[in-house]
Formats: sequence, structure tokens, C-alpha cells
Amino acid sequence: MKITIAGGHGKIAMLLHPILKDKGHSVKGLIRKPEQAEALRRAGAEPVICDIEKEEDISEAVGRADAVIFAAGAGPGSGAERKWTVDRDGAVKLMKAAHKNGIPRYIMISAMGLDKPRGNEVFQVYQKAKAEADEALRNSGLDYTIIKPGRLTDEPGTGNVALAPDLPRGEIPRQDVARVIAEILEKPETAGHTFDLVSGDTSIRDAINRALAKAPGR
Ligand SMILES: NC(=O)c1ccc[n+]([C@@H]2O[C@H](COP(=O)([O-])OP(=O)(O)OC[C@H]3O[C@@H](n4cnc5c(N)ncnc54)[C@H](OP(=O)(O)O)[C@@H]3O)[C@@H](O)[C@H]2O)c1
Repeated sequence: MKITIAGGHGKIAMLLHPILKDKGHSVKGLIRKPEQAEALRRAGAEPVICDIEKEEDISEAVGRADAVIFAAGAGPGSGAERKWTVDRDGAVKLMKAAHKNGIPRYIMISAMGLDKPRGNEVFQVYQKAKAEADEALRNSGLDYTIIKPGRLTDEPGTGNVALAPDLPRGEIPRQDVARVIAEILEKPETAGHTFDLVSGDTSIRDAINRALAKAPGR
């Protein structure tokens, strides 16, 4: 599979590149800083320079692919304005690029608890921007899967998770989020689903299969 990841040097993305490469996929990562290119190559992805805030149409950088992943984010140090321009508008630009380039599949790294915004003003804007991006994706006509992790940690992954449409708040290592995304990419039946994701006691494959078995309409 050919996969393009927006936010190619993000912490989750950098853990995802080698997993996808080992599975035989070919991966492009969009980055805005040329000095990050070598790190991407070392992690197994082809770097493509593209600032998703500055470019209106990112379809050329996204290129031909079977799936795209939105792993970008303005980050905790940024102000409210960049929550709109990266977390919402960047995600929407990736949807437009997917449509333009005939890419059917879109995996979104969203966040838990967006329906009950909390925290300071900037964090609330972040949650609204992410919620609007998710809504745009649900209405996009693309084969989407929205993954909503709890608080991300840099602990080593355990390979055991809880994954379901609605879970109590919790946390999860970025490495396990990367593993879940890699698994979901290879499960087309996850299209049209939105899942909360935290650490748990079920293997990733079983957690996905159980969530699908319980999904409405089955
Ligand atoms: N932190 C949490 O607890 C938490 C919980 C749930 C969900 N999430 C979501 O998970 C996402 C991924 O997490 P993470 O830790 O892997 O994120 P991360 O390390 O902050 O990575 C985000 C990436 O987006 C890139 N980016 C920012 N602006 C860009 C632009 N204009 N053009 C191109 N790339 C741009 C950044 O690149 P630069 O180096 O150029 O800035 C960075 O590499 C977050 O963004 C967040 O929305 C986070």
C-alpha cells in the first residue's frame, strides 16, 4: 500500500514509519522543515516538503496513494490561531487532496472527549478545531476511520489496548497508537467508524475485531 502521512515528523508518525515499512508499505511524510528530512529517511519514509498551513492545495505533495493519515498538530505550545490553521484546516486540506488524487482512505488521529471541551481557552479552541475536522471527515464521502486517543505518553507500548466508540478517559503510549493505526489501515471494514483508544488488556487485533463485532448494524 502507498501511504502519505501529514505531520510526517510528529512523534506518532515517526513511530509509525518503521512499522509500515516492515509490513511492506511505502510511506511518504509531509514535513515543513527540510532539516527533518534525514530523520524520516532513517525511519523508513520518503520526506516531502509541504507546509500545510502555507499551501492552499497540498495535492501535489500528497501524490498518488492508497491511504492518507492525518498525524499533524499545532502542538501544545501554539496559540489558538494555529489550532484552526493546522488541526482543522490542515486536516480539511488533506481531505481535498485525497478527493483530488482519487485516494479513498483517510485515517484521522483525533482526540478523546471533544464533545465535552475542558481546560483553558486555547485547549478549548483545540478541541473545537479537532471536532470540526472530524465532522468534515464524516461528511467527506471518504472511507474514514477516526481514532481518538486519550492522553499520549512516550512510554514503551504494551500492545494491549481498549478500543470502542465511547470509553472513560485514560492514557496510551504513542507507540500503541502507531500500532493501532497500522492495523486499521489493513482492515477496510473499519471505514466509517470512530473509536476512542486508551491502554487496556486486549491485544490490538482482538480489540479492533471486538469493536467491529459490536458496531451498530451488525
Ligand atoms: N498530546 C496528547 O495527549 C494528545 C491526545 C490525543 C490526541 N492528540 C493528537 O495527536 C496528534 C499527534 O500527536 P503527536 O504527539 O505525534 O504530535 P506531534 O509530535 O506534536 O506532531 C505534530 C506534527 O505536526 C507538524 N506540523 C505542525 N504544523 C505543520 C505545518 N504547518 N505543516 C506541516 N506539518 C506541521 C509538526 O511539525 P513541526 O516540527 O514542523 O512543528 C509535528 O511534526 C496531535 O497533534 C494531537 O492532535 C494528542
